[in-house]
Amino acid sequence: MNAANIDVLVREVGLRDGLQMVAEFFPTDQKIAWIRAEAAAGVREIEVSSFVPPKLIPQFADAEAVVEAALQIGGLTVMALVPNLRGAERGLALGVHKLDFVMSVSRTHNLKNVRREREESLADLRRIVAARDAAAAAGGTRTQIAAGLSTALGCSYEGAIAVGDVCRYAAALAEAGVDEIMVADTVGYADPALVRKAFRAVLAEVGDVPVAAHFHDTRGTGLANVVAALDCGVRRFDASLAGLGGCPFAPGATGNIVMDDLCFMLDSMGLRTGVDLSRLLAVREIL
Ligand code: COA
Ligand code: ZN
Repeated sequence: MNAANIDVLVREVGLRDGLQMVAEFFPTDQKIAWIRAEAAAGVREIEVSSFVPPKLIPQFADAEAVVEAALQIGGLTVMALVPNLRGAERGLALGVHKLDFVMSVSRTHNLKNVRREREESLADLRRIVAARDAAAAAGGTRTQIAAGLSTALGCSYEGAIAVGDVCRYAAALAEAGVDEIMVADTVGYADPALVRKAFRAVLAEVGDVPVAAHFHDTRGTGLANVVAALDCGVRRFDASLAGLGGCPFAPGATGNIVMDDLCFMLDSMGLRTGVDLSRLLAVREIL
């Protein structure tokens, strides 16, 4: 990523967050065409797939092929989701640029989503960081590790989530040595007041580690939440083209904030994203 000429990093996550909800297999060549077209429109970072068991989510049975093709695109940071060490090993073997490790602040959601206690997820993360360090020491790519805190702003099972809990897990992720922390409103329950309170607290907790925001638009508060997070100093946002998205293990969750609307809003606010809006809109044809 050439950070010099952009103010805000917008990351496409529709190929993962969106497609995990689509039962029908989206053909590999169309996934790759989508990635290429969005990168050509100026999107610098894309979460292209998910290294989960193909038996669990068949949509990502082609994760290796998609990541390998994406890695050929110049200037693009290629990210993929991993729920455990096995997933991370698959990503590291390919030299993926960034891993997106997920755990939930809500104990119930973590158990349903990754079948682990939160402490077990943290132990997994520490093993992943060690595996990454070993791969980098052996002369491979230094893969970045971004760790997401799902259900940080509300959970379909547990309801409201205490900001203190979000901070505690954010601190644990920073301590584990991650390169980025993503605070996720997995079900889209947040409002701008909660976003301000939670992001201020997390940013104060984690020091220099960059914090990204991942919002869903279930109740129409998505872009308002972006503005609240911008006010706190957040400069990295996840979004998905046409607003695809949701979590198969979080009832009621709907799509991510819409990439095209996000870019339009940031552009109007004088914040550079590097994305060419008309070329971005043309990519919707692929969907
Ligand atoms: N990639 C490929 N295969 C994997 C794998 C991975 N990341 N992780 C586990 N497996 C395989 C194991 O090798 C094992 O295979 P086998 O049955 O042939 O022996 C099988 O899957 C079960 O492994 P296990 O470690 O027992 O996993 P689990 O059944 O406890 O499931 C997770 C745990 C984390 C793998 C699973 O819950 C998961 O992938 N969750 C993520 C869900 C998701 O993507 N949610 C939306 C995004 S937030
Ligand atoms: Zn999401």
